[in-house]
Amino acid sequence: MIELKSVIARRGSFTFGPFSHRFEKGRTIMVMGENGAGKTTLLDVISGMTIPDSGELVSSARISYAPQESDDSFFLPTVLDEFSYSLRGKRKDELKEIAQKLLSSLSLSQEFLFKSPFSLSGGEKRLLSIALALASDPDFLLLDESLSGLDYKGYKTLRNLLVILHKEKKGVILITHDPSILDLADEVIVMRNGQKEFSGSPSLAMEKDFVEKSFTYLKSMELFSMPILSMSELIERRRNG
Ligand SMILES: Nc1ncnc2c1ncn2[C@@H]1O[C@H](COP(=O)(O)OP(=O)(O)OP(=O)(O)O)[C@@H](O)[C@H]1O
Ligand SMILES: [Mg+2]
Repeated sequence: MIELKSVIARRGSFTFGPFSHRFEKGRTIMVMGENGAGKTTLLDVISGMTIPDSGELVSSARISYAPQESDDSFFLPTVLDEFSYSLRGKRKDELKEIAQKLLSSLSLSQEFLFKSPFSLSGGEKRLLSIALALASDPDFLLLDESLSGLDYKGYKTLRNLLVILHKEKKGVILITHDPSILDLADEVIVMRNGQKEFSGSPSLAMEKDFVEKSFTYLKSMELFSMPILSMSELIERRRNG
């Protein structure tokens, strides 16, 4: 279990909180909300990367974090080195076997073991960052926009992984802008202006319109209904402010 009690964390002019919530073990919790609402800050607080200015974080859980920027997960020359670091203490043959299993569970090629993590594509990095987070066998996995930039195969891989983690009673906190994944959530949290606007079941979130308000794809539908301008009209509009 992870509990935030009236946590406040300031980042420049932005104030996160006061935020209180209990994240129960074994649940899949999805966090939504507009850009800049404080979703990443929430995971930074839970992971201990951001120390609250006030309030309390109570946690005995082992936590792994796949950050919004996948590159933040990597710091060693090869993918095998990254796994060796996450799996330090394991025998060499055992370590390689676990790394291979984790790669295949994220539909990643075994050839990546000897490549630089930085040389992979955006979607591959995204999945590798999750594989590395899983290596330390966490109680809670924090996933910041892990669905973004994935193709259909990657999306299905991640969906399957979420189902497996749920069966294994691992806690997952996933930040997402994709409503198609909400069917796998036990609980939805909606953030706005650094605060918790809503928490409850996915169906209640839909019923109360929070999903519609938060998701980019519905906003993009609004954009589609705007008149389509030619490039010269766009430039003209920009010139005129
Ligand atoms: N290191 C920092 N220094 C100053 N301000 C910061 C810092 N990190 C984040 N912020 C501010 O905190 C606010 C919340 O940021 P956060 O990254 O938590 O938002 P988010 O909900 O994850 O947004 P997004 O959907 O765009 O990822 C933003 O307004 C941002 O400008
Ligand atoms: Mg973010």
